[in-house]
Amino acid sequence: MGGDTDFAQLFARECGIMVPENELKWRILRPTQDSFSFAQADWLLNFASRYRMQLRGHTLVWHQQLPDWIRTQVNSSNARQILLNHVNTVVGHYAGKLQSWDVVNEVIEPADRRPDGLRSKPWLESIGPEYIDLAFQTAAQADPNVLLVWNENHLEGSDERALAKREVLIKLLREKLRRNIPIQAIGLQSHISGTSPSFNNPEFIRFLHTISDMGVKILITEMDVTEVDLPTNIDARDQAVAGVYSDYLSTVLREKSVIAVLTWGLSDRYTWLSSYLPRTDKTPVRPLPFDSNLNPTATYAAIARAFDQASVR
Ligand code: G3I
Repeated sequence: MGGDTDFAQLFARECGIMVPENELKWRILRPTQDSFSFAQADWLLNFASRYRMQLRGHTLVWHQQLPDWIRTQVNSSNARQILLNHVNTVVGHYAGKLQSWDVVNEVIEPADRRPDGLRSKPWLESIGPEYIDLAFQTAAQADPNVLLVWNENHLEGSDERALAKREVLIKLLREKLRRNIPIQAIGLQSHISGTSPSFNNPEFIRFLHTISDMGVKILITEMDVTEVDLPTNIDARDQAVAGVYSDYLSTVLREKSVIAVLTWGLSDRYTWLSSYLPRTDKTPVRPLPFDSNLNPTATYAAIARAFDQASVR
């Protein structure tokens, strides 16, 4: 973002909250076991505070984007100390400065076929399932005021995998809260398909209610709408994408415990979907509220309408 001043200006004008897409992940923060490299994330924090934006931290514990030394230097006798030292140091470095931290990210994996539904590698394998509780407790000690989030993907759909992930999440969350593990919010990543069925269905709404009834907040943390299966025609495609934003946001914002909405990127100029899910017709992807020329799309209007119609919180 540093080199693209038009984009930076747009960001400062449009956004109230920012999240570093990669700069707080281990691969960038931890060049070696003994060092921390905060420069890139600190730059973003300065940018955010200059323009009075809040900053979210993403993410302390994840199975991806780990530096190569983890594979060779971490084992079951030192993993706990290495993980907790990371959480303590990074949360401590930003204490008092962030809006929230994704303490754990994508820890549910039904495909790993464990009875508890948790992802088996790498942290569970080397520490045990208690690594999640330990990470939250350590983060809470290092910054008692920051909102601590369990961020999870694929909770929004109506397919088997989403149903299974929702069931596991509710069960584990209930059990962890009973033991006073300081989980204060659930992050719904919300990478959504442009051909998704309606979100305004009783099952999904009940899931949001259940979380909120436990006194836990909800954040929409990484919303974008994949449009690989949508037509080439830009107007038709934008209308479909905007329709999914509209349907999803009007559904989730009816729940008062939803306290933040973030998209995963602001402009189609910079989106992970360009490389991860490119279109077969080779036209640029359009999953975000501003196109690659930084002009607002139908999605921008859909988000604005959903915010306008939501009750104040
Ligand atoms: O910066 C390097 C560049 O120097 C190098 O030449 C190039 C060669 O591969 O890689 C660049 O790093 C890439 C980085 O994005 C920055 O573009 C990494 O390879 C690439 O793996 C990384 O992808 C990120 C991915 O997470 C993995 O960390 C995406 O940008 C980011 O959007 C994506 O975000 C995730 C969330 O953290 C969790 N939820 C899902 C979401 C989408 O996958």
